[in-house]
Amino acid sequence: MTFEKEILRRRTFGIVSHPDAGKTTLTEKLLLFGGAIQVAGAVKSNKIKRGATSDFMEIERQRGISVATSVMGFEYEGRMVNILDTPGHQDFAEDTYRTLTAVDSAIVVIDVAKGVEPQTEKLVEVCRMRDTPMIVFINKLDRMGKDAFELLDELEAKLGLNPLPLSWPINMGPEFKGVYNIYDRKLVLFDAHGKQTGKSTIEFADLNDDALVKHIGERDAGILREEVEMIEEIYSEFEVEDYLGGLVSPVFFGSAINNFGVKELLDCFVRIAPSPLPSKTEERIIKPNEKTFSGFVFKIHANMDPKHRDRLAFVKVCSGKFERGKNYLHTRLGKTLKFANPTTFMASKKSIVDIAYPGDIVGLHDTGKFKIGDTLTEGEDLHFKGIPSFSPEMFRYIENADPMKSKQLAKGIDQLMDEGVAQLFYHQYNNRKIIGCVGALQFEVIQYRLEHEYSASCRWEPATLYKACWISCEDPATLKAFKTRKARNMAKDKHGSDVYLALSAWDLNSTQDLFPDVKFHFKSEF
Ligand code: G4P
Repeated sequence: MTFEKEILRRRTFGIVSHPDAGKTTLTEKLLLFGGAIQVAGAVKSNKIKRGATSDFMEIERQRGISVATSVMGFEYEGRMVNILDTPGHQDFAEDTYRTLTAVDSAIVVIDVAKGVEPQTEKLVEVCRMRDTPMIVFINKLDRMGKDAFELLDELEAKLGLNPLPLSWPINMGPEFKGVYNIYDRKLVLFDAHGKQTGKSTIEFADLNDDALVKHIGERDAGILREEVEMIEEIYSEFEVEDYLGGLVSPVFFGSAINNFGVKELLDCFVRIAPSPLPSKTEERIIKPNEKTFSGFVFKIHANMDPKHRDRLAFVKVCSGKFERGKNYLHTRLGKTLKFANPTTFMASKKSIVDIAYPGDIVGLHDTGKFKIGDTLTEGEDLHFKGIPSFSPEMFRYIENADPMKSKQLAKGIDQLMDEGVAQLFYHQYNNRKIIGCVGALQFEVIQYRLEHEYSASCRWEPATLYKACWISCEDPATLKAFKTRKARNMAKDKHGSDVYLALSAWDLNSTQDLFPDVKFHFKSEF
């Protein structure tokens, strides 16, 4: 197969949802269709159940699962599909945001009863920031839920999406009869045993055909005709370009647990979802079909064995071919590195890879040389963009609890921050280190891992802060005046950028009023 064809057949995407909407179940059904797994139940939930937050075995178990399911690759209809897993627990949302920088498209799973939930809003916002094409799957139609039109309105109002239904449900809950596939003009019937067989799909180009009544009854045939007519009036015709440009989001309905509507979703997905897209670097735009290799690290996973502190760095191939044993430039360090055993992922199986193409993810054995966002090339000095840090919401001072182990502590903190577990800020006024997290669970994870992997022990002290915001100002004199006036609230992030530590929402507003020319940013890239 030619290089161009290899690129065009790749589909690298992520599934995002609020916990419990059905992401794990949908992933599993997709893998079953792809033949990547043979039995249901093979994909373990990567959730950390509430109440288990102090159970560190649970956290370790989750880390074990998450390395096994980080990338799930399979072939389907001649396409090479790579699903990038995203942590289910919202305390690990930063991980998910970063993984979303490596996907070319996303599937958003919504629970029909719950509609759009808070975590979905955040994740979709990250996708929208990058114009990532999104398909929505409304799940659990075997249960009673919100009205389908109401859900479409919610997608618009809460997620800012422009939804376009490509399938439409016939009832829900105990009365659920199936979906009409508007895109393919097919009726897909749901049978009481929850099996979707070949026989249950009927071509139905014209819904006015009398035969429709035979399949779903007079009342439901009437409702379906009316609703599809309404859809055709309200929504414009589906154009793949609009979806690829992030302008519309196709919507499908189904029930993942019953494997219903999943094949329709997958068939449409492999047809319309984008192959690897061009990537932005600080220097220039990189096209996937460029001859020379480039890629970036979007995730680092520490070894599960605390005695071996080596890690696995996940690299998305952005252009050219990645080849085993070849020399590549680590642009941040300015060093040439060679990887003898790069790994690839087919479902949960890891194997050595000789060649990887744009869209693929390779796992590189790392002894501490990589940080999130690092770039590898064949020699060109490039730096990939688009891995912002988000302003954390919880803060604590980290203190050394064992003076004999200060070196170990410093190293541990450094490496955990490189992995992206949390963010470190250096308070400029009192010289203390502050750790900022998205969720409280991360503080426990850090303490536990420092102890078990670095033999260091830490103590937390409260830091009553509201937000850490990156700041900028066009006028250097104003910026200097700001920093002098607010010296007690200034910090630096790990890259040395200026950060303002706001004590409260009120403090942030009044400071903004005082310095209208200073810009406050809630993510590290602006
Ligand atoms: P997540 O990864 O998004 O967090 O969700 P997950 O797939 O784990 O699904 C959450 C719960 O919803 C699971 O039940 C799962 O069985 C159920 N579920 C998924 N899809 C459907 C569906 O189409 N219909 C119905 N009725 N339920 C669905 P659980 O009781 O939390 O876990 P389990 O004991 O079944 O594993």
